[in-house]
Amino acid sequence: MTENESVGLSSPQEFKVAEAGEIADGGTKIINMVGRTIALFRIKNEYFAIANACLLGEGEVRDYEVTCPWHGWKYNLLDGSFSMIPTLRVKTFKVKATIEGVFVEL
Ligand code: FES
Repeated sequence: MTENESVGLSSPQEFKVAEAGEIADGGTKIINMVGRTIALFRIKNEYFAIANACLLGEGEVRDYEVTCPWHGWKYNLLDGSFSMIPTLRVKTFKVKATIEGVFVEL
């Protein structure tokens, strides 16, 4: 069973998760959708979505890395890799931003 099948999706689908401009530069939004919790980050005009493992969505972002507020572990927003052991990763999701909103592919 694939990860998508486990949450009831047969193939990747886009979901609107925010209005255009809803999240300020440097801001974050936590999304609970299709059995997942996702942290959506905006850095300037780019958006990054990663699995909200632990409290990553409440972490501080610097240089495309989010620091978990509990243990201080750092995860790269570009690929989800853990800074101390880069082969360990949290799941990342494709994000598309248009004038109609911000969409995440699940
Ligand atoms: S609780 Fe987030 S890294 Fe430990």
